[in-house]
Amino acid sequence: MKNTARLIAIISLSASVASCCQAPKSEGPVYLDDSQPIEARVEDALSRMTLEEKVKVIHAQSKFSSAGVPRLGIPELWTTDGPHGIRPEVLWDEWDQAGWTNDSCVAFPALTCLAATWNEDMSALYGKSIGEEARFREKDILLGPGVNIYRTPLNGRNFEYMGEDPYLASRMVVPYVQEVQKNGVAVCVKHYALNNQESKRHEYDAVVDDRTLYEIYLPAFKAAVQEGGAWSIMGAYNFYKGQHACHNEYLLNDILKGEWGFDGVVISDWGGTHETDQAITNGLDLEFGTWTDGLTMGATNGYDAYYLADPYLEKLRNGTASEDVLDDKVRRVLRLMFRTAMNNDKPAGSMCSPEHYDAARKIAGEGIVLLKNDNDVLPIDLSSAGKIAVIGENAIKMMTVGGGSSSLKAQHECTPLEGLIAAAGDRIVYERGYVGDVSGSYNGVVTGQDLSESRSEEQLIADAVALAKTADAVIFVGGLNKASHQDCEDSDRYHLELPYAQDKVIEALAEANPNLAVVIISGNAVAMPWIDNVNAVVEGWYIGSQMGHALADVLFGKVNPSGKLPFTFPAKLEDNGAHALNAYDPADLSVEYKEGIYVGYRWAEKQNIKPLFAFGHGLSYTDFTYGDAECAKASVKAGSNVTVSVDVTNSGKVAGKEVVQLYIGDDESSVDRPVKELKGFRKISLEPGETKTVTFTIEPDMLKYFDAAKHEWVLENGKFTAYVGSASDDIRTTVQFEVR
Ligand code: GLC
Repeated sequence: MKNTARLIAIISLSASVASCCQAPKSEGPVYLDDSQPIEARVEDALSRMTLEEKVKVIHAQSKFSSAGVPRLGIPELWTTDGPHGIRPEVLWDEWDQAGWTNDSCVAFPALTCLAATWNEDMSALYGKSIGEEARFREKDILLGPGVNIYRTPLNGRNFEYMGEDPYLASRMVVPYVQEVQKNGVAVCVKHYALNNQESKRHEYDAVVDDRTLYEIYLPAFKAAVQEGGAWSIMGAYNFYKGQHACHNEYLLNDILKGEWGFDGVVISDWGGTHETDQAITNGLDLEFGTWTDGLTMGATNGYDAYYLADPYLEKLRNGTASEDVLDDKVRRVLRLMFRTAMNNDKPAGSMCSPEHYDAARKIAGEGIVLLKNDNDVLPIDLSSAGKIAVIGENAIKMMTVGGGSSSLKAQHECTPLEGLIAAAGDRIVYERGYVGDVSGSYNGVVTGQDLSESRSEEQLIADAVALAKTADAVIFVGGLNKASHQDCEDSDRYHLELPYAQDKVIEALAEANPNLAVVIISGNAVAMPWIDNVNAVVEGWYIGSQMGHALADVLFGKVNPSGKLPFTFPAKLEDNGAHALNAYDPADLSVEYKEGIYVGYRWAEKQNIKPLFAFGHGLSYTDFTYGDAECAKASVKAGSNVTVSVDVTNSGKVAGKEVVQLYIGDDESSVDRPVKELKGFRKISLEPGETKTVTFTIEPDMLKYFDAAKHEWVLENGKFTAYVGSASDDIRTTVQFEVR
């Protein structure tokens, strides 16, 4: 539909321009000549647009699209959720799917799983694959990735983000951005900024000091913009410094567009725009999802009532708003159009291809985290194993439907049970174990699963235990799901514990059979009161279409797990900084980040709290030994690099991948700083007995802290320690160096 309109417009326009013969390219309007530099095309198009046309292109015309300029043959812009796959088509002004039959997608693993790979190549593969699907569906803007930092384990949307550490999230977001955009599809990095909870997300005011903002909550967005080259950013719902993040002087004008030089488009979250004056002056460029007539929520088709629509046009006409400010918005939107919709150099994209299914499985295989594996319960050896009992609702429950705007209509979703059966055949016997959430629909997409269950909680446990007693191995698959107050947009979890009767089932199974492996499907940390009685635990994440196959690959040893936690699993909620300081209350409208920079492992190490599982933790079916870290020069002049090298050996019996992690601690700082902070990581493959030397280059910027008073990054001379290891709590070697 869109292509045809554009073609007609261009033909009619070029026909009117050229006489009988085809006018040479250079004679047509500059903006139509894609051999011209984009900035020339932007200025030419802008000069031809009327005031009304300019205002038309800076706000939505439908639920997920904004207008082009038909008179000039400039097409509309089409957006789509979400970070894990391409949302099904919707009708013009609806949230529910339109019911097309050719818009099912591959559901890729959740971004927590991608972050858990600690492998930038996986991020590139992810971006390429999802970018191809967006392109094939003719979408110009992909509403993702999300990179909000994991501040509390209760945040309902942590599953869509990349963990608690700004360095990890910064490294892992860049390839995703670059590869999506190679398809001529813009990313829209979200939610900028400080949307670290879902409770009161439209209303709470985040109270955060500048040092914390710059050291923890901005880096991933900055990397996405300055290194990734993100073409659009999505404003968050919450307030910051008393202004909504979607029209926020400090975040958008001063930092994003000022300090970082962002040349793209700031898009509001859907319903994140609340007034015209601030929307005009505080950096918003493209308004989406506003509750139109401003009087009632959700009035449909009132797109001319948007804050940047008629109310803005009125101000422009009566001279109370400057056309220069409007032109900056329009330039940015035009630039985005020439990068995407008007970009004739785009690949065609592809959808549901074998390559995309393989990519999803490969990313998952590198992201699944082996948390515990006593007595080598895992991998289960299929050449000798007899009956394998699979227990738990999450073994059968589809997880691609629900959870909010990241919900998908997957062409196929291989559940854990299906994947385990595909690998182990009829040795797999299933018992429900517990009942959790039997729903299965979102925005008109239905799973079609009948999860109804008539047995009582006690009966379900008894049946599961009876089966477990007769099995060689037991796999419990539980965790969270995408229901409200679980891993779900627009609501936070109520507590850290596993919901439903899962803890009871796990305790009973541990009693019945020591060969128990517990698989947690979640996007968040959960409490594990039974941990001492269970030999093997795996964090399986939300993996999407390839869930079952990826899990089976790891549990049966076809893939040696190499994932590492992108966030801390605290033993109890109070071990988390925000909760220890009572700085998270779902009812609060003002949320003061009292823990400051001490988020995640930074807090645990500062307070000497032993987590259940630490940031960066993840086991392998083999072992890795580290040599002594060496510094090329123990003392360097301020401003020069430091290199740290370490030999790593696979001292086990099977090939594997290790994520060698580098943390830096400032031993002589004049300000309070974390014990150590992640400043490097490298994932390496090693055959049994193989040794590789890993060398890290520590640049001066990596040693700095943000001085809020000076509003700049500061490097203090003195001694630093480089910590190298397999996890934040598994440091194998350290070396000190000095900056003169
Ligand atoms: C939602 C989400 C955002 C999503 C948008 C469009 O409210 O906050 O992540 O992309 O609206 O669905």
